[in-house]
Amino acid sequence: MLRLLQREMKWVFYHQARFSSSTSSPGRLEGKIALITGGASGIGKTTAQEFIKQGAHVFIADINDKLGLKAAFDLGSKAQFVQCDVTVEAQVAQAVDTVMAHHGKLDIMYNNAGIVGPYYPPSITNLDLDQFDQVMRVNVRGTLAGVKHATRVMKPVGSGSILCTASISGILGGIGPHPYSISKFTIPGLVRSLASELCKYGVRINCISPSAVATPLVMENFKKIYPKATNEQIKEIIGGLEEFSGTQCEEIDIAKAALYLGSDDAKYVTGHNLVVDGGITCFKSLTLPSPDQFV
Ligand SMILES: NC(=O)c1ccc[n+]([C@@H]2O[C@H](COP(=O)([O-])OP(=O)(O)OC[C@H]3O[C@@H](n4cnc5c(N)ncnc54)[C@H](O)[C@@H]3O)[C@@H](O)[C@H]2O)c1
Repeated sequence: MLRLLQREMKWVFYHQARFSSSTSSPGRLEGKIALITGGASGIGKTTAQEFIKQGAHVFIADINDKLGLKAAFDLGSKAQFVQCDVTVEAQVAQAVDTVMAHHGKLDIMYNNAGIVGPYYPPSITNLDLDQFDQVMRVNVRGTLAGVKHATRVMKPVGSGSILCTASISGILGGIGPHPYSISKFTIPGLVRSLASELCKYGVRINCISPSAVATPLVMENFKKIYPKATNEQIKEIIGGLEEFSGTQCEEIDIAKAALYLGSDDAKYVTGHNLVVDGGITCFKSLTLPSPDQFV
């Protein structure tokens, strides 16, 4: 009986110790202030959640105010929403100024907002250059505006981590429509060009290239290619693109990569493209099933 009691006490102490260490140990982003564009949904929202879990206060900047307010509500008191269309430089500047007005610093700027643009036409001969401009405006110009205004406040203090979302579509051609792929090929170049300047001021800049994740952005675009497929069938197609055995790429995988690059663990890492693709770009090209399969 005594032995049983001793064993139970041991179990209680063990779990109390585990619980207290997990609640009292500081997170990897304790006290950091982050701004995430496109933070209302998908990868951005999950990253905001992970950053908050690790001790950060996060500003969600998004063009979609309904979704942005909901995301901030869902994530609790350490999340705030600021409406921002990244194609309008004044709004990006305003988002950064809002962060500065509240907290006097910006530690992490994650330029994540992105659009795919029209999936068709698939051929360069039919390309609508106005549509191309729109994709570049959001994915490249919007990113550049974020880097510019984050640098404005990070450079004087000599520290900060800037992140950008690229894509495996910026590593392998032929996965996405040309405007999207071209915009994503540009991001690692932008990062390396700017890292060459920012390293002198202690500001790091890196990008992450995710594989396919079944976020609203991807689901909507696959719906255009496979209008008759159900959501489950589309998720299966997306899952079928992955090669890594036994698991799939999820929002949290990108959030964890952002956590590493955003934290002081990566204090000497800059100009880097962290590819989170389970090896897919290492060895094969992708073949999608025909839309006729879903009649
Ligand atoms: N999901 C994937 O498979 C995948 C793969 C590689 C790269 N990416 C990239 O990840 C990033 C996030 O995409 P996601 O998959 O989470 O999609 P998502 O649609 O869930 O999120 C994108 C967010 O960006 C916002 N946004 C769009 N235009 C904006 C603008 N002009 N200003 C501010 N916000 C704007 C949207 O409102 C939305 O909240 C994008 O840059 C995308 O290209 C996604």
